[in-house]
Amino acid sequence: MSNKIKVLAICGSTREVSSNHHLIKAITTLSADIFDVQLWDGLTGLPHFNPDLDMLPESAPEPVQQFREQLTRADAVLICSPEYAIGVPGTLKNAIDWTVSSMHFSRKPVALITAGTSGFKAHQSLLGTLLIIESKIGEHAQIVVPGVKRKVNDQGVITDPETETQVRKLIATLAAVVAEEEVVLLPAPSLF
Ligand SMILES: Cc1cc2nc3c(=O)[nH]c(=O)nc-3n(C[C@H](O)[C@H](O)[C@H](O)COP(=O)(O)O)c2cc1C
Repeated sequence: MSNKIKVLAICGSTREVSSNHHLIKAITTLSADIFDVQLWDGLTGLPHFNPDLDMLPESAPEPVQQFREQLTRADAVLICSPEYAIGVPGTLKNAIDWTVSSMHFSRKPVALITAGTSGFKAHQSLLGTLLIIESKIGEHAQIVVPGVKRKVNDQGVITDPETETQVRKLIATLAAVVAEEEVVLLPAPSLF
């Protein structure tokens, strides 16, 4: 039995060749001594969120139940996502919406990377969502990687030194949050 931290990686891009996938690959390599990273491949298999289908935990659609089981088993979650039309990709928001009432992100250590041409608007929105559903996000466990295509190659190697430094810090912060070390956590936003 491995005593590594089990990290469920969620890629917000559904593209076959994706910079965000490459970033997950880079993080898998850079953290290999402490993280066991499993990439979740169920994003496009989830139905559209509908609270009517979610009145009881056992009545949720099968792909949703599988997603929730994977979240339960994970010690931490890594989300890497692009930005579309200055917002969060709909498929990713759909997946997160399925976890709101079930509270699968509540107290869960999360690291967030938004990587695109820019990414700042989607990042703020995603952070707000994740924090309001009680994810534990360390101050340095969230970064934006603008101009990502110039910073990570298709082998999953980060070629930009500043980005590599930020990603290494993100990995260390996520591990520290899981270990419940003293880490500055981002506060939850107010609802209104
Ligand atoms: C329809 C569409 C809208 C986009 N809108 C934005 C945007 O608002 N902000 C941004 O930073 N990038 C935007 N992009 C660029 C993507 O974020 C960028 O291509 C990113 O690398 C995609 O991530 P991926 O390589 O992991 O698929 C957009 C791309 C597409 C296809």
